[in-house]
Amino acid sequence: MYYSDEIIEEVRSRNDIVDVIGSYVNLKKKGNSYSACCPFHHEKTPSFHVSRDKQMYHCFGCDAGGNVYTFLMEHENMTFPEALETLAERAGIKLPEKSMSPEAKQQNDLRTRIKEMNRLAAGYFHYLLKSERGTHAMEYLKGRGLTDETIQRFGLGFSDVYSDDLYQYLKSKGCTDEELKDSGLVRFDEKHGASDRFWNRVMYPIADANNRVIGFGGRVMGDAKPKYINTQDTPVFDKSRNLYGLNYAKKSKRPGIIFCEGYMDVIAMHQAGFDNAVASLGTALTPGQVNLIKRYTDRVYLAYDSDEAGTKAALRALEIMREFELPARVISLKPYKDPDELIQAEGTEEFERRIVKARSGTMFEIDILADNYNQEDPQERTEFQKEAAKKLSVIEEPLERNNYIDSVAEKYQMDAAALKEIVTKYGIAGTARVNLSGFQEKRSKGETGADKDDQMLKAERLLITWLINESSLFDALNGVLSPEDFYEPVYHSIAEELFTQYKAEGKVTPAAILDHYQSKEEHDKIAGIMQQDFDMEIAQEEKAKTVTDLVRTVKERSILHQLDNAKGDLTKINQLMMEKARIQKLIIRL
Ligand code: UTP
Ligand code: MN
Repeated sequence: MYYSDEIIEEVRSRNDIVDVIGSYVNLKKKGNSYSACCPFHHEKTPSFHVSRDKQMYHCFGCDAGGNVYTFLMEHENMTFPEALETLAERAGIKLPEKSMSPEAKQQNDLRTRIKEMNRLAAGYFHYLLKSERGTHAMEYLKGRGLTDETIQRFGLGFSDVYSDDLYQYLKSKGCTDEELKDSGLVRFDEKHGASDRFWNRVMYPIADANNRVIGFGGRVMGDAKPKYINTQDTPVFDKSRNLYGLNYAKKSKRPGIIFCEGYMDVIAMHQAGFDNAVASLGTALTPGQVNLIKRYTDRVYLAYDSDEAGTKAALRALEIMREFELPARVISLKPYKDPDELIQAEGTEEFERRIVKARSGTMFEIDILADNYNQEDPQERTEFQKEAAKKLSVIEEPLERNNYIDSVAEKYQMDAAALKEIVTKYGIAGTARVNLSGFQEKRSKGETGADKDDQMLKAERLLITWLINESSLFDALNGVLSPEDFYEPVYHSIAEELFTQYKAEGKVTPAAILDHYQSKEEHDKIAGIMQQDFDMEIAQEEKAKTVTDLVRTVKERSILHQLDNAKGDLTKINQLMMEKARIQKLIIRL
């Protein structure tokens, strides 16, 4: 960690979360908390809550959550040090310079420098495009229908024909060879010295979600190969976690996000008013990108090329999206090759109609499947129908499944009842298989091991929530239950922190705990627990009874676990058995 715990805590406590989030999101006061439509996913009714007491936020819709640091990291795409520095400045706190470890500081400085070099390069390419030297490139872009405004908005540029033009420019701006080596903009080799990675290409700067240039795509102005080259991965450019156009798309008023394949598609679509279009960066769509987009929307469209490669890419993208439970619809561009061509040829309104007519991912998959079989041949037709039924059998929601059965039956002239019958058959076979592999914990009711585990986890989680909301509980638990009794590692360590805080200060500060956890998953999970309030109307005896049950459940599990580990130590076993008996009679008073 770069900064000391004390500094982190001081900066956090001097930035009220309601004020900070309130400057990005329109918060409405509601009882003890503030709410708004969630800035991390698309929704119409507010499920995003901010609590002044706890100094935390949580969205009940998408489970995003955390403290004031997490918010800036997630919402503004800042690193932890960036969020800390921003908040320190906001509160007028001067940060100690030296507390950053030398390596960390070096890495941080390098990232800052690389972004700065990218910014300089983008400015230079853009200047060249508009200068006499860029006439040819400018003609090329205009020839492809781009307006001055679009060229400006996307900061398009031109890299000149000399092999070290940019290198010389960046040197003149004070960049050293050492840092240029890491920027991805310049290559060094023993024989020829420094040479630009990009030359004689039109340049597409790639911005991150915060509008900072992190890399480039460069296109030849003719038919030479390769058509595009892209910045390789650098400390600031991770192709699998950024999307072209997201800096604008995230602010779009249009519903959903449209994925296309190419830079040019994104630009053409934004120019036509579809400013919710994004594209991946010279690679196929990655899980990281789908995860990223889930923060901004729950409605996704694919506008992939209509050729075979595009169709394959779309099928793969649908698969990834399904893994992330993000349903996608597929826009048909036929007979045109890509969104750019379609818009050039038919205009905005036609594209709008195509969006409305977009097929669900499942329907698209079945249509593609159908193309692989000769529907005139009875045997092939049967094969197709079976495969289609298999696809439909995995749809969990019965109404949705039936609707699909009807649509597919109508479209491919099949008997709906017969189709339904085989879908059901595959459905049953599928469930049986999944259950055997043990992955379907949620589905199996009854006293299975997995089910018990779930209950245990839930009890531990609820008990933590109680500790946060009822500090009298700490005293009541004295000698009964300690943090060691929590079995799940995350809950164990949260309990430890809460007990320590209570012992030291006589109260708990949930938001401070978060900074000891690194990952977004942990933050979401912890904030979810901490943000839960109990209905304060619930009677005192009722409360005591609920907590007593929870404590018993957690303690019993802990004792069983210790018994497992006692391995024949009779004294220990005896002691545990007595404790177990005592727990049965335990009554917690609040
Ligand atoms: P396309 O060949 O469809 O390019 O590749 P495009 O964006 O539609 O560009 P135009 O209209 O021909 O000018 C789609 C995407 O695949 C990556 C780029 O990200 C491109 O935008 N790509 C393609 C490469 O990285 N390298 C290549 O050589 C080709
Ligand atoms: Mn294309």
